[in-house]
Amino acid sequence: MTSFWSLWISAITIAVIAGCLILVLHTRRSEVHKETTTETMNHAFDGIEELDNPLPRWWFNMFIITIIFGVVYLFLYPGLGNYKGYLNWTSYNQWEAEMAHADEHYKPVFAKFASLSVEDIATNDTARQMGQRMFNNNCAVCHGQGGAGAYGFPNLSDKDWLYGGDGAAIKASITNGRAGAMPPWGDIIGEDGVRNVTSYTLSLSGQEVDAKAAAQGQTTYQAMCVACHGVDGKGNQMLGAPNLTDDTWLYGGSFAQVAHSIRQGRNGAMPAHGSLLSEDKIHLISGYVFSLSD
Ligand code: HEC
Ligand code: HEC
Repeated sequence: MTSFWSLWISAITIAVIAGCLILVLHTRRSEVHKETTTETMNHAFDGIEELDNPLPRWWFNMFIITIIFGVVYLFLYPGLGNYKGYLNWTSYNQWEAEMAHADEHYKPVFAKFASLSVEDIATNDTARQMGQRMFNNNCAVCHGQGGAGAYGFPNLSDKDWLYGGDGAAIKASITNGRAGAMPPWGDIIGEDGVRNVTSYTLSLSGQEVDAKAAAQGQTTYQAMCVACHGVDGKGNQMLGAPNLTDDTWLYGGSFAQVAHSIRQGRNGAMPAHGSLLSEDKIHLISGYVFSLSD
């Protein structure tokens, strides 16, 4: 905040508090009756009349206490523009302190399983369940409960892996993230080219296609696609290029969906979690993910 707005806000806040105090004291002083009275304010509504009593003492005190509370609060905590408050409190350092406390508390619990391999965690009930809870909190938004996946988000519970399904590969996917890079081909091979190579791609998984189109598409495939998807179409886990010969599709297996993948390209992004979760946590989650397909 610039110092002008800081001063502006501080001045208004202090003025409002001072104003409240003056108002409360002024009305107190200008009360006609200092003690309880039977005199009325001289107006009646529906048979109800108002007595001209002074404000009860406790009520008056409540106003004063509230004002004192406000002043003390603004002294201790940030509230006046850029002033940081006597306690130097921020929601961020409160959160950090709580996280540090939780880490301290749970570290030994997680560390106990650090010596197990990812594959062994999968068969250890306690460890796997801890991994499962963390998976539900951190990963299920994208990969679904139980890792079942969704359109564009790979199924983690089958044996079909983009980047490999052993402990090390799963851990690397989680820690460093992954960026699938399927280039768009629409401008390069044209709409006919897209249709032909789509026919050929679908024939790889044994679907009925127009044989002539597929034959033409095969030439394109051999020129443009083998580098990543392989001569046999089985994919390449180094590049995250999916196997095109099975009936598992990340982006759908209909003619239109496959043609769309080829025409426009695809760029699936798995965010890196190495900076978000501790190594021990990622270790446990990896074990749970491994158990899903095993
Ligand atoms: C914002 C969504 C998102 C979140 C959150 C997310 N992922 Fe992913 N994940 C993806 C996408 C998208 C891919 C596929 C990347 C690609 O297409 O190349 C992926 C890929 C993966 C892979 C590689 C799968 C394979 O077939 O090789 C693993 C393993 C994985 N995620 C595990 C996790 C775990 C465990 C978590 C939680 C710590 C997690 N992901 C959180 C979106 C997400
Ligand atoms: C530079 C490497 C590369 C080349 C070349 C390449 N692809 Fe891909 N392709 C990928 C990657 C990586 C993905 C996965 C994208 C993702 O995870 O988001 C992919 C995804 C696909 C998909 C979607 C698969 C699914 O499961 O939904 C199809 C279909 C496909 N490619 C076909 C082709 C065809 C046909 C060609 C040649 C015209 C081709 N690709 C060329 C790397 C490549």
